[in-house]
Amino acid sequence: MWFLGDTLSIKVYQALAAALEMRPERRVILSDSGNFPSDLYMAEGLIKALGRGDELRVVAPDEVTDAITDEVAVTLLTEVDYRNGRLHDMGEITRRAQDAGAVTIWDLAHSAGALPVDLAGCGADFAVGCTYKYLNGGPGAPAFIYVAPRHATRASPALSGWLGHAAPFAFEAGYRPGKGIERMRVGTPPVLAMAAL
Ligand SMILES: Cc1ncc(COP(=O)(O)O)c(C=O)c1O
Repeated sequence: MWFLGDTLSIKVYQALAAALEMRPERRVILSDSGNFPSDLYMAEGLIKALGRGDELRVVAPDEVTDAITDEVAVTLLTEVDYRNGRLHDMGEITRRAQDAGAVTIWDLAHSAGALPVDLAGCGADFAVGCTYKYLNGGPGAPAFIYVAPRHATRASPALSGWLGHAAPFAFEAGYRPGKGIERMRVGTPPVLAMAAL
C-alpha cells in the first residue's frame, strides 16, 4: 500500500519509527556506508528522540548480509548506491533479514523509475523513495512510502499530523490513526508538485 507526500527524509523517519516499534526487544538499526546521508542522519535523530540507547550500525555495503544478526531490529538500506550505481540484492537481503527476525526498509530513491522493483514479490516490510529523480517530478516533488499490507493497519506513523487522523475534518482533540496507509500522511500535501508529478 502506497502513500505519496512529504519529503523522503520524513518518510524515512516514519518508516524507521514504525519498524523499530515492531521489534521492541531489539536495539540495532543496520545500514551501510553507501547509504544517502539523510537516511543515516534521520536514524541518528530518531535514536536521540527515543533516548533508549538504540544503535545505528553502519557497515560496508558488501558486509551487510554477514552483519544481519539476531540483534538487528531493522535494516535500513538504499537499493541503488547514489555514488556508483551498486545494486543490493533486495530479495536475498530481505529474506536473510526476515529469517533473522529483522524488519526491512528499502529506500528506492535511485530505483523507482530506473529499474523494475518487486516489493510484494520479495516480501519487503517498508519502502520509501522520492519522485524527483527517475520519476522526473522535479525538485520538491513528493516522496512515497510503502507499507506491506500485513503491517498497514498497525504500523505507527510516529509523526501524527492532522491529515493522518482517522477523521481529520472532525478536528478532534486527540489523535486517532487513519485506516491503513492513510495514517502515513502528515500534513497538507504539496498540491502543485503532485499535479506536476
Ligand atoms: C537515498 C536518498 N534518501 C534520502 C534523500 C533525502 O530526500 P529529501 O530531500 O526528499 O528529504 C535522498 C535525496 O536525494 C536520497 O537520494
